[in-house]
Amino acid sequence: MRLRELVLKNYRNYNELELSFHSDLILFAGLNAQGKTNILESIFTSCTGRSHRTPRDRELIQWGKEEALIRTRVEKQAGISEIAVLLAARDKKKVMINQSPASRLGELMGHLNSVMFSPDDLKLIREGPAERRRFMDMELSQIRPQYFYYLQQYNRVLNHRNNLLKSIQVKPSLAATLPAWDVQLAQTGSYIIQQRKLFQDSLRIIAQEIHHRITNGTEKLDLEYKSSIPFQTNQLEEIQQQFLQVLEERQKEDIERGITGKGCHRDDIVFHINGADVRVFGSQGQKRTTVLSIKFSELEYMRQETGEYPLLLLDDVMSELDYSRQQMLLEYIGKVQTFITLTDPDLIPDLKHKKMQIFKIHSGTALPLESLSF
Ligand SMILES: Nc1ncnc2c1ncn2[C@@H]1O[C@H](COP(=O)(O)OP(=O)(O)O)[C@@H](O)[C@H]1O
Ligand SMILES: [Mg+2]
Repeated sequence: MRLRELVLKNYRNYNELELSFHSDLILFAGLNAQGKTNILESIFTSCTGRSHRTPRDRELIQWGKEEALIRTRVEKQAGISEIAVLLAARDKKKVMINQSPASRLGELMGHLNSVMFSPDDLKLIREGPAERRRFMDMELSQIRPQYFYYLQQYNRVLNHRNNLLKSIQVKPSLAATLPAWDVQLAQTGSYIIQQRKLFQDSLRIIAQEIHHRITNGTEKLDLEYKSSIPFQTNQLEEIQQQFLQVLEERQKEDIERGITGKGCHRDDIVFHINGADVRVFGSQGQKRTTVLSIKFSELEYMRQETGEYPLLLLDDVMSELDYSRQQMLLEYIGKVQTFITLTDPDLIPDLKHKKMQIFKIHSGTALPLESLSF
């Protein structure tokens, strides 16, 4: 897919921005704090309805303004889509797809897909399981709108159940209503677990090959989905049954603690190199390489699942990569439309060989510098 147009109004430090893209490599160059990441963030928000930097829409709206708009025009194999995301300070965000209002945010999913790669992604390895669940959830939501619905539903039910657990502490007779919530939690949760497990199965195969290539065969990368619900077959019925059983077994403890202690909101995906957990035993270099492998794998996985490569958004990562890894990334250009932010394009000379557009970003403005084509 190709992003052809991006329009921003009152988005972060952009009053009004209108950009057209006609090539596969787009560079945003500029000093710090000028608005480079803001552009990539707006593209990402157009894909998922959410910023990769903050869950609070308020922060995306220009200070002192009530509303912000992100509009994109996307070219896909299936045709052209126009997406508008309207963020409001005092209201829920609204989404329009091809000029018709979407009744649910989930309708946005799948129209525009992207993989974002920024220095922050090291969190994927370094931090706790919540970060890795978010990674799986973002990826799966983009390619499977149903996953996004189930996830929303699961979180709602989980919230209800947790509140109920606390109420039961004061009024034990309420425990009679718990099984109805358990069933709903197990129903939605088993689908989420099943999909994450399938995701891990596919990603594992792709990532192993890529990591092998990146490390010249010296490291074997492996991925494992660690669930708090034990299951053997990845059949929905089995996971659901196991889920219910876990909830029943833990009921007393859950009530005492006033919180649901097990379920897919506690699961994790673990990365191993040569058999050891990268998070615990990996060197700084291995952690970086693992993230890079995972990012490449996301591209391939999305293509496998949707038939098209997503957009690739590279925020400030080029200068951190060594030459051979830069080359691997650049190999994708032509197949994958790539948006790169950097301070100085001259630092990466090989970029110049490709047909590209450069925008100079300065204080919330984007000036087209040159359009090299040959
Ligand atoms: N809601 C907002 N309204 C106006 N300006 C904002 C808002 N959020 C961030 N900014 C400004 O955006 C700039 C940072 O943009 P960013 O894209 O992160 O910079 P960089 O070019 O370093 O990637 C800062 O100058 C910051 O003050
Ligand atoms: Mg930045």
